[in-house]
Amino acid sequence: MQKIIKLFKAIWLLLKRPALFNLILKDEEVLRNEFEKVFPALKLQELDPFAWTEAQELNIAPYAFLSGSSMVTDFAFLQMLCRKYKVETYLEIGTWRGESAANVAPFVKEVFSLNLPDSTLRSMGQSPNYIDSHRFFSKDIKNITHLFGDSATFDWQPYAHKCDLVFIDGDHATEAVLRDTQTALGLRKSSDSILVWHDAKQDAEYPRYEVLLGIFKALPAHMHSNIYLVKHALCAVYLPDALIGQAIDLNALPKRAFELRLTQKEV
Ligand SMILES: C[S@@+](CC[C@H](N)C(=O)[O-])C[C@H]1O[C@@H](n2cnc3c(N)ncnc32)[C@H](O)[C@@H]1O
Repeated sequence: MQKIIKLFKAIWLLLKRPALFNLILKDEEVLRNEFEKVFPALKLQELDPFAWTEAQELNIAPYAFLSGSSMVTDFAFLQMLCRKYKVETYLEIGTWRGESAANVAPFVKEVFSLNLPDSTLRSMGQSPNYIDSHRFFSKDIKNITHLFGDSATFDWQPYAHKCDLVFIDGDHATEAVLRDTQTALGLRKSSDSILVWHDAKQDAEYPRYEVLLGIFKALPAHMHSNIYLVKHALCAVYLPDALIGQAIDLNALPKRAFELRLTQKEV
């Protein structure tokens, strides 16, 4: 009886507010089913960069600890990639406060960071505080160039075949990730270049199928075996070398612990 009442309540709510359908369609359980239907043989795998020698010495700065901030471990991962693979040209889609750009800048020759222009954010009805926070940490860093535009329509030609690493962290809807990933393929300096996606996980352990669907649909099948979820972080990565990924073991006992010392910086 309770179930029938719930069903009628749900139907009534959906009829009253059809936008609620989007919540169902974007539910991770629904998207996981779609992922498994589209890629029935695919087993997601995990990479543990904190086992690399580069993980011995990490300094994450700046870090805002504010709404929407990436995890400390995401910036650590980007830094480690830049050091390990000697990245010279780093390009990212999605600047916001400039935290990711500022974190990698000391380790690369040049950073390009694209974001929707402030005028577009304004016309989208975003708050002045949100708009003003864009580029806060990256605006005065010499080797960072800010690019403005919508990644869907931006003229990418000047950056084609120039990038050692492309970080995709703009719009996280499946279709947008698919499109940005296809763009990133053309930006790679060579087939050895690295692709990183943010928010490919819901948290430090669980996959986020909304983003994973975009990634795997965009990349040709022969690249799928080199895509890894990143342990302790929210990223996924495409690496050219066939590292041995591990099977994902959700809610397993911790195998390592970190110690963080928090130091405040002038802003
Ligand atoms: C998650 S934030 C980026 C965070 C940043 N990478 C960091 O870690 O510090 C996403 C940003 O992407 C921008 N964005 C969303 N859709 C975009 C698009 N189609 N083209 C360019 N930028 C976009 C948003 O304005 C927002 O500032």
